[in-house]
Parts: sequence; C-alpha cells; structure tokens
Amino acid sequence: MALDAETKRIVSLFELSDDWLNRAVGEYISQAEEGLRSDGTSLSQIPTYVTAVPNGKEKGVYLAVDLGGTNFRVCSVRLNGDTTFNLTYNKVAVPKELMTAKKAEDLFAFLAKQIETFLHEHHKDEFEGVRRRTRSTRKGQKDEDIFHLGFTFSYPVKQLAINKGTLMRWTKGFDIPDAIGKDVCALLQTELDKLHLPVRVAALVNDTVGTLLARSYTSSGHSETLVGAIFGTGTNGAYVEKLSNIKKPIEGEYDASTGKMILNTEWGSFDNQLNILPSTTWDTDLDRESVNPGFHVFEKRVSGMYLGEIVRRSILEMVQNEQLSLFKDVNSSSNDWRSTTSISPQSGLMQLWGLDSSVLSVAASDNTPELSVLRQELEDNLDIYSPSLEDAQAFKAIADAVGRRAARLAAVPIAGVLLQSGQLNDPDSDVIDIGVDGSLVEHYPFFRDMMYEALAAVDGIGPDGAKRIRIGIAKDGSGVGAALIALVAAKMEKERGVGDAVKRELDTVPGNCECFCFPSFSRLCLFPLHPFFFSVVEGRDFPEFNPL
Ligand code: BGC
Repeated sequence: MALDAETKRIVSLFELSDDWLNRAVGEYISQAEEGLRSDGTSLSQIPTYVTAVPNGKEKGVYLAVDLGGTNFRVCSVRLNGDTTFNLTYNKVAVPKELMTAKKAEDLFAFLAKQIETFLHEHHKDEFEGVRRRTRSTRKGQKDEDIFHLGFTFSYPVKQLAINKGTLMRWTKGFDIPDAIGKDVCALLQTELDKLHLPVRVAALVNDTVGTLLARSYTSSGHSETLVGAIFGTGTNGAYVEKLSNIKKPIEGEYDASTGKMILNTEWGSFDNQLNILPSTTWDTDLDRESVNPGFHVFEKRVSGMYLGEIVRRSILEMVQNEQLSLFKDVNSSSNDWRSTTSISPQSGLMQLWGLDSSVLSVAASDNTPELSVLRQELEDNLDIYSPSLEDAQAFKAIADAVGRRAARLAAVPIAGVLLQSGQLNDPDSDVIDIGVDGSLVEHYPFFRDMMYEALAAVDGIGPDGAKRIRIGIAKDGSGVGAALIALVAAKMEKERGVGDAVKRELDTVPGNCECFCFPSFSRLCLFPLHPFFFSVVEGRDFPEFNPL
C-alpha cells in the first residue's frame, strides 16, 4: 500500500495541467520574441542564412555529414535530375573519450578520418583518382575535382554565413571547451586538408533546418512546412520567420528578396531561467551534475538523453527508502514469479546515466496484465532479478509519467511557434505541416498522440486547430537537407565568383563525378524530390529561388 501511495505521489509531480500548458505557451512566445530582438537571450533564435530553397531539377553529387548526439553519419547524395536521388551512408558511434577531448582537433580529426574512410569504401575510384591528381598537380586541386559538403552540426552555433559559424556551447554530453568560439567549418576543413581530401565544407546547417527542408518535399499536398523539429537525444526546432520580425541585426550577407529566413530557435534552452518549467528534485540534481548546468534545461526534461536518468533517480530514491517494498520482496510468496527480487550491484540503476531511455519505451508499450515484457526488460537491461508485478507496476507508472510529461512539454514550443506565426488564422492554410525526426518521437509509444492532446488543450488552437496540424516524420532529413544546402552554397559561390569558386555548371555532372553511379551502395534509398528545392540549381539566377 505504501508503495502504491508513494508511486501516485511521484507520478503527480510529473503531471502538467492544461492551465499550466497555456501559461507555458505564453512564456514561450514572450521568450521567443525576446530572442528576435536581441542576442544572449534564453531562446537564441539564430538566423541560418537560409532565405530560400531551390525548386527545379538538377544533377550532381554532394556529400553531407551529420554530427548528432551519439553518431556521426557520412553520406553522399546523387541528385539525378529527374526528381529522384540516391543516398548512401556510413554511421559510426562517436567514441565517448572524444566527446570530452582536450583539443577540438582530436574530434575533428576523427570526423575527417570517417569522411576519408567513406570515400574510400564507397567512391574508391573517384577518390583515388582525385588524390592522384592532387599529388601530381603543382597548382593543387582543381575546383571541378572538389566535392561540396553540407555539414549538419547539431549544437548551438552562431551562424555568420552559410558556411561559417562559431560554437556557442556544447550540449548532449559533449564538452570540449577548446572548440567554443571557433568556426566549426574551419575546424573540419583544416582536418580534411591535412588528409588531402578533395572536399570543401560548403554549408553549415542545424539538423532541424535539414529536417524542415527535407519534410517540405516529402509532405504531400499544398501546404508548406512551418517547423522542423528534433525529439531525439536532444531537442530543438527551426521555423520560417518573416525578416521584418527579426529585430536584431543579422551580420553578413544574405538574400533578402524572399522576405523570410529560417531561424534555429535552440528551444532546448527555453526557460533556462526556470520561470515556468516544472522542477522536481531529480530534474534539479540531474542538471547540477550535467556537463552544462543551467543550460538546455528544457531539453533536460524532454529529450532521450535525459528521460532515463530522471526515471533512474526517482526509482533509486524509492529503492533506498526502507519503508517501501520496491524491488525488495522478502520471500517467494510475495512474487508471482515464485522467486525473490534482487538488484545486482552492477545494475544500471546504481549508476549515473545507467538507465537507457529505451526502457521507457518498453514500459509504455507493455500493457499486459502481468507486465511480463517490462519485467524481462528490467532483468535484461537493469540486472534487477525477478521483479514482482507490483514492482513493475510502480516502475511503469513513473516511467510513463516522465514520458507523458516530455510529450506535453514538447507541444509547448510547437504551439508557441504556431500561434506566433498566425497561420491558424490564414484561410489559405488548411493544414499546418510540422516535420519531426528523432528516436523519441519515432519510437516512444503515442508520443505524437500525447502532443496532439496537449495542442488541443491550448487556447487559440483547440481541438479544431489541432486537427489541422500535421506532425509528420522526416526520416533522416538532416542528411538530405545538408546536401541540398551544400548545393545552394555551391551555387552562391559560383554566382559571386568568390575566390576559387566552383567553375562548373551545377546541372552538368562533371567528368570526375560521372563515375558516381552508385551501383554497389550498401544502403540505397530512392526518394522523389519535391520541386520546392531546385530552382537554384538550374544554373540561373539566385533570386529565382522559391520564396519560403
Ligand atoms: C542542440 C541543437 C540540436 C538538437 C537536436 C540540441 O542539444 O543544441 O542544435 O538541433 O540538440 O539534435
């Protein structure tokens, strides 16, 4: 009985009322407006310099790399000129020691090495050919031989140009102080050059921006995508804003003719000042012991990297409470598995970050009366042997409450952007499209349903408005998005004739790239391309971009 009562008390600490949701959306809008006025606010609202997107047909091969929370992905995208593309990729886990390396160079050298391996594995002929030529030409590489690379870098960056941005701070467990304030494109380029790779870092893009762009062409119908969001290891969103609403100065050059620009909100840092966010003792302790205390506090309540740890802390506190029977039945008669429960000293429950958020998904999807799947998971994943039904019920209740709180919190920035944009009042917008990606929104059971339920409870949206919101998965959008931005950047270089800009026509596959026919791709995807993307690459004027 004590266990049941304590479980209910803890669950209630994670509940967010509809009234709270409405106040939180108001707070989001006010912090978002602050971010449009000045730098250094909790919501950074970073200009991305993406003011338009291509919408025609073209051909070419682009590289894209994606440094996310856990993995580094290298891909090449061949745009076929007939609304399809071929994409292949390699994915490696970033070694833990590099996430906290002493020097930025250590991490970026590793990234460059992966690019070299990828070229070697998948484009051996072209790669070797280009390297040979590089060595044998006194003048160095010719522009035709250089592959343009879009760099998806999913951390807060002050973007200064389409291919330049300085790291503001690390998130998601990375902590390499040496990299702060440095241009991440230059850091990567330096390491690529050390390896003599025929690759130019042409564009820098946040994963949310890539997701927004990728979703724009995969979503059917006439609606444009308003938001690209990630709910995975971390969380963040990018959206299309009117230039006239951006009051703070935007340094550097950009094409203002469309009147709009994609902004990277960095909403993981929404309410760092804790004006409104709920804070249990476990949230506070987790933040204090994280690598970035006081920052990204919204992310620490919402994203996959942290949810398991919140559950671990609350469950551990219950286990340590002598008054509660959790995971400590005294004899086999109190356990329908006819055994007694024990926790291995090695259990992840006892270790910082020892409870993977995937356990929450298992808990949420097990609705059997015996909770046998969850109980097996507790054994296999957490070395908790023979948990009783009551133990599993308590665990599930708390894990579900943490997951539900995350989903309701996730609705707050979406509602904020939506209400601020006024799109619900636009008679031409039947559907408001939101592109999302990330393990949480993809795999946590009913995450999107719980978001919709929360959106329906927000004044100004309501059940009718919520029905007009389409939250759709833009799987792996960031890679494709980065390649497409690289293409835009290559075109910009060409248009402006800057330095050693690209000398070739973008709609002509160069001799050296013609061998990129990708017949032996290990992972091959074929997607139709939305015309939205390609006016820029038809080799005509930059202002032909479609307005956002
Ligand atoms: C980063 C964002 C990123 C998000 C999702 C956050 O921790 O600050 O830049 O978009 O994670 O990957």
